[in-house]
Amino acid sequence: MSDQYSVLGKAPRSEDLKKLSSSNIHLSIKSLSAGYGKMEILHNFDLFVSKAQSLCLIGPNGAGKSTILHSIYGFTNIFSGKIEIDGKEITKLTPAEKLKSVGIAYILQDSSVFPDMTVEENLLMGGYIKDKTEDSHQEAEKILEKYERLRNRRSQPAKVLSGGERRLLEISRALVMKPSVLLVDEPSIGLEPKYIDMVFEILGDLQKNEKKTIILVEQNAKKGLEFADIGYVLVSGQTAIAGNGNELLKNPDVGRLFLGG
Ligand SMILES: Nc1ncnc2c1ncn2[C@@H]1O[C@H](COP(=O)(O)OP(=O)(O)OP(=O)(O)O)[C@@H](O)[C@H]1O
Ligand SMILES: [Mg+2]
Repeated sequence: MSDQYSVLGKAPRSEDLKKLSSSNIHLSIKSLSAGYGKMEILHNFDLFVSKAQSLCLIGPNGAGKSTILHSIYGFTNIFSGKIEIDGKEITKLTPAEKLKSVGIAYILQDSSVFPDMTVEENLLMGGYIKDKTEDSHQEAEKILEKYERLRNRRSQPAKVLSGGERRLLEISRALVMKPSVLLVDEPSIGLEPKYIDMVFEILGDLQKNEKKTIILVEQNAKKGLEFADIGYVLVSGQTAIAGNGNELLKNPDVGRLFLGG
């Protein structure tokens, strides 16, 4: 597998990666080596993203894309390196602390709505960690006001939702905690094209109008790179190519390997 990608040449340096963000970096990963148990999956990995920017990770299955999100959130073993928010080190915080104190929310790759709970109850679950349930109710109400698709079904069990509506609920549930960073794993997986567009519209709205910083993994490389300000191509736990989303769409290596042409 690695031979196939050796044509991509030299990996970008951390100085190169920084240039893709404004000087005001919101989240950074510096020389991170991390994995599961004793197995190292990410090797000296760097990442930089500014507030209200979006960054998309693409790459073959098993490259370590989800592991990057897991590491930011706190699900992996970190062997060395640092993760920072606004210059403050958060490497060793637990997922709960990350959600609550620094505002990092994680939207899972696998469907994670509770099918027998209502839409509203699902939303409230997003705030289970908040000190005051009143806050969660307020946030849930705001979300229901904004998304008619959820509002119309607020008292129905989540299992009646379509795939696209379910994804919307998963994203919305994360918003109850008012995070500043959204980690989104494969937002388009299993969705019909019209729902894929809806999900990207919602993410775009959250980035532009609510100034969320978004780091996403996307198997649909074309959609992901069209959406994101920055793209990283991950191969075997390291970044092989990085650039603006638009640049990568035009990159012949990316085209050949990930865009089917
Ligand atoms: N919980 C885990 N425990 C042990 N190994 C894991 C675990 N999760 C992932 N791995 C391993 O880590 C490597 C990277 O997996 P990861 O899920 O990050 O890849 P990915 O790029 O997201 O792939 P995909 O496109 O298939 O989702 C794989 O070899 C995988 O088997
Ligand atoms: Mg994955």
